[in-house]
Amino acid sequence: MRSHGCGDLRSDATGQAVSLCGWVDRRRDHGGVIFIDLRDRSGTVQITVDPDLSPDAFAVAERLRNETVLKVSGAVRDRPAESRNERLATGAVEVLAAAIEVLNEVRGNLPFPVSVHDDTPVREELRLRHRYLDLRRERMNGNLRLRAQTIQAARRFLEAEGFIEVETPVLTRSTPEGARDYLVPSRVCGGEWFALPQSPQLFKQLLMVGGIERYYQVARCFRDEDLRADRQPEFTQLDLEMSFMEQEQILQLNERLITTIWRAVKGIELPSPFPRLTWQEAMDRYGTDRPDTRYGLELTDVSDIVATSGFKVFSGAVAAGGAVKCIAIPGGNEAISNVRIKPGGDVFGEATTAGAGGLAFIRVREGGEIDSIGAIKDNLSVEGKAELLRRTGAEPGTLLLFGAGDTATVNKALDRVRQFLARELGLVPSAGAGGAWNFLWVVDFPMFEFNAEENRLEALHHPFCAPNAADLGADSAGWPTALPTARAQAYDLVLNGLELGGGSLRIHDAALQKQVLQTIGLPLEEAERQFGFLIEALDMGAPPHGGIAFGLDRMVMLLAGEESIRDTIAFPKTQQARCLLTQAPADVSPRQLDELHVASTWVAEEG
Ligand code: AMO
Repeated sequence: MRSHGCGDLRSDATGQAVSLCGWVDRRRDHGGVIFIDLRDRSGTVQITVDPDLSPDAFAVAERLRNETVLKVSGAVRDRPAESRNERLATGAVEVLAAAIEVLNEVRGNLPFPVSVHDDTPVREELRLRHRYLDLRRERMNGNLRLRAQTIQAARRFLEAEGFIEVETPVLTRSTPEGARDYLVPSRVCGGEWFALPQSPQLFKQLLMVGGIERYYQVARCFRDEDLRADRQPEFTQLDLEMSFMEQEQILQLNERLITTIWRAVKGIELPSPFPRLTWQEAMDRYGTDRPDTRYGLELTDVSDIVATSGFKVFSGAVAAGGAVKCIAIPGGNEAISNVRIKPGGDVFGEATTAGAGGLAFIRVREGGEIDSIGAIKDNLSVEGKAELLRRTGAEPGTLLLFGAGDTATVNKALDRVRQFLARELGLVPSAGAGGAWNFLWVVDFPMFEFNAEENRLEALHHPFCAPNAADLGADSAGWPTALPTARAQAYDLVLNGLELGGGSLRIHDAALQKQVLQTIGLPLEEAERQFGFLIEALDMGAPPHGGIAFGLDRMVMLLAGEESIRDTIAFPKTQQARCLLTQAPADVSPRQLDELHVASTWVAEEG
């Protein structure tokens, strides 16, 4: 149908007869001559329609609406110097139309402008409702291409490294990755349910038992969890698993994978090796296991300094086994008023939203004088004051913000305050060309964390991560004695404060696997019922193995400089886990439910 892409025409095509297909980006009537910007995915070019030279084409052009689909035949000619468009790649030429054929009309009203000339922000709801129009626009079109390039670069690298792409089932049984499952009732096996995979975790381990040695997959995963800008109920992992490799080798291979992707997609040479932090260090210094290291404002533990203070909020927290930590904000005295850090203020609000009871503060004045409420000021010894200033590096003008309480809550609150202030104070450099790409491996996660609500230990990543052998201890029979407090051989890749991927070495010993499942509260019988197939496989010559999964949508979001993964997915769901285009989820006929042996207990809320 066409000889060229609209965006491909340059001066060297002058004089050639061409045919083009595309959409009317806009049409301008200039005193007798009509100009059409014709757009396809390669770009736009100006079509000129002269009534004297081609009256038939002119008659068609006169009634064209935006987004009409056309085929245009004509000759390429240079534009006069004064009417060249420097901003357009095809701006030096135009196509003088000989014939215009309408391939399809636009009959309804366009809900929003598609034109490359129109960058009016459009409500996301409207964009998702008419996603096919949104995809025609430059932004989404570019993002989808960038996504494809990312996958292509990953595939090339992994294939060259000997990885084999294997597909794993989507109808399967539940894998414990910590979210709720999407369930699918079985018609044939009445009363029984498939779960959609939260990740291919168990299958990729079974592939290692199956001798595949190096597996990868661009894998669709499903998690029914609370949605955020970086979470979708249906998302894609770049999923890897490999046998006979140490943690160090796995990290290095993945670093090469990431640097290859960034080079291919962004033309950026990432500095290697990526920095590493232990989980403990990340929690101590940033209060989170995915710190944004593009800016400072690190946390300082001052528990020992205030342990005997007469200010009960501080000493009480330490006495109860908690902590007192603080953030030092250089120049904070000037930048942040008391109103903002006292009850009702925005900074105060960040701390309390994260569960803190309050936010104590000290302002450091000239000569190292401390300005705070009497209860804090009067209860600090001269030595204590000196040590506080030394440890936090606080100079005159510095504002110190304190969190006191149980360590987890203090960390959570100060992490939130730190991120909020970094944004507020303009300390976050933008990513992108010339910007900051702060990759960070967080290693040595604990195997378990305590779930106070359920009063049991739960796996921090998932219960298939291998413990660090050095932490296990052993009784006289060689049985591990310190499993609950062991570190896992697990690692996360963090980029600019976002968790890009996570993985671990796996347990390949059936007895140890059973012990871990019991540690998280699964009685042996239940463990056998749920994971018997895995335990059995481990006992049939499972090789040492490990792997990682990257969130592909998140990776593309960061590469594209977008704020939400919805802008990297062709047909995403809303925050309410709905597809606005197809109106899914939707009801089904009673007959379908009958066949599936399912009855709904749903009662619509009143109003
Ligand atoms: P994990 O649960 O950490 O590990 O997931 C790996 C990565 O997937 C991305 N991710 C998501 N992206 C979008 N929407 C979501 N709802 C969502 N949930 C997770 C994150 C995350 O780092 N089986 C293990 C991996 C392994 O051990 O090899 C797993 O799934 O970027």
